[in-house]
Amino acid sequence: MKPFNPLTRRQFIATGAAIASSLAMPGVAFASTSTSTLIQKAIPKSGEDLPVIGMGTSRTFEGSNDPQLINTLKQVTQAFFDLGGGMIDSSPMYGSAQQFLGQILPQIKNKNSLFAATKVWTNGRQSGIEQMEQSRQLWGIERFDLMQIHNLVDWETHLQTLQQMKAEGGIRYIGITTSHGRYHDDLQSILRKHKFDFLQLSYNIADREVEQSLLSIAQDKGIAVIANRPYQRGSLFRKVKGMTLPDFAQEFDCSSWGQFFLKFVVSHPAVNCAIPATSKVHHMQDNMQAGRGRLPDARQRQQMIRYFESL
Ligand SMILES: NC(=O)c1ccc[n+]([C@@H]2O[C@H](COP(=O)([O-])OP(=O)(O)OC[C@H]3O[C@@H](n4cnc5c(N)ncnc54)[C@H](OP(=O)(O)O)[C@@H]3O)[C@@H](O)[C@H]2O)c1
Repeated sequence: MKPFNPLTRRQFIATGAAIASSLAMPGVAFASTSTSTLIQKAIPKSGEDLPVIGMGTSRTFEGSNDPQLINTLKQVTQAFFDLGGGMIDSSPMYGSAQQFLGQILPQIKNKNSLFAATKVWTNGRQSGIEQMEQSRQLWGIERFDLMQIHNLVDWETHLQTLQQMKAEGGIRYIGITTSHGRYHDDLQSILRKHKFDFLQLSYNIADREVEQSLLSIAQDKGIAVIANRPYQRGSLFRKVKGMTLPDFAQEFDCSSWGQFFLKFVVSHPAVNCAIPATSKVHHMQDNMQAGRGRLPDARQRQQMIRYFESL
């Protein structure tokens, strides 16, 4: 983990916005000056730093082309970049998400830190190539930073294409994804035999199945990990509804349940970033605050699990 210190001008401005927004958000207090540090982790294959909180787009960026919805998502995306965001994750599987991103991104300021990640989700070489090109045009970007094979679909075919694209500079990193416990055995053997830069999987305080398997393989092989479903699709909040945070959460600059859940995920040594999805500006502000200040250590992580499981 590489804390950003001293702050660049952009981060200094983002920090000010974070303080202002956390004071404006009900139930969220700004704990101490140590929360001003933006946490980044290095991608093992390149050493490039990536902020630990990214943004997912499944369901939140799906809908009809309603100007009010687009305007809200624009504000969510602007808050993401203003508060130091980097990775945005999408997929052709997510309905209108890539189209909405393409409409919104040109209107966003301070987006130099964008780390554009999408997926290929189809069968066949040519169909994969065409789908990736269509995604690029929808986003309106020159190239993707990361292209992931979605849920292992036709992975052998796409891996060859992606290796060629990477060699030619068409993408920067190659990844593969899974979610909610599917294909873990297959994925383990694929990762042992083939080279990937990124692995995306489901990991959160209630679903820790990957700790003993995929996360240790990723660490051994120097593969960056993206944690999807960090809130178990929002169901973690239902479990803690109406409950106050334990006092020990202050020890790692955590002032909301959202920060508690995200800090748990990104403090695992194998995890590079979490990609919570939200359709609300105040939730984005909350999520981005989780990428600042101290993270729980190994002892505190065990304490978090015990506390959560006792509820
Ligand atoms: N196989 C794959 O490749 C795969 C599979 C699953 C997911 N993913 C990726 O991972 C991303 C995240 O997963 P997910 O969208 O399934 O679920 P998630 O991020 O675990 O949960 C999203 C839910 O949490 C709520 N939420 C967000 N921030 C909150 C906050 N601070 N306080 C309270 N509620 C909050 C959102 O509601 P509001 O809108 O009200 O904030 C939304 O209902 C996806 O969007 C997608 O990009 C990839």
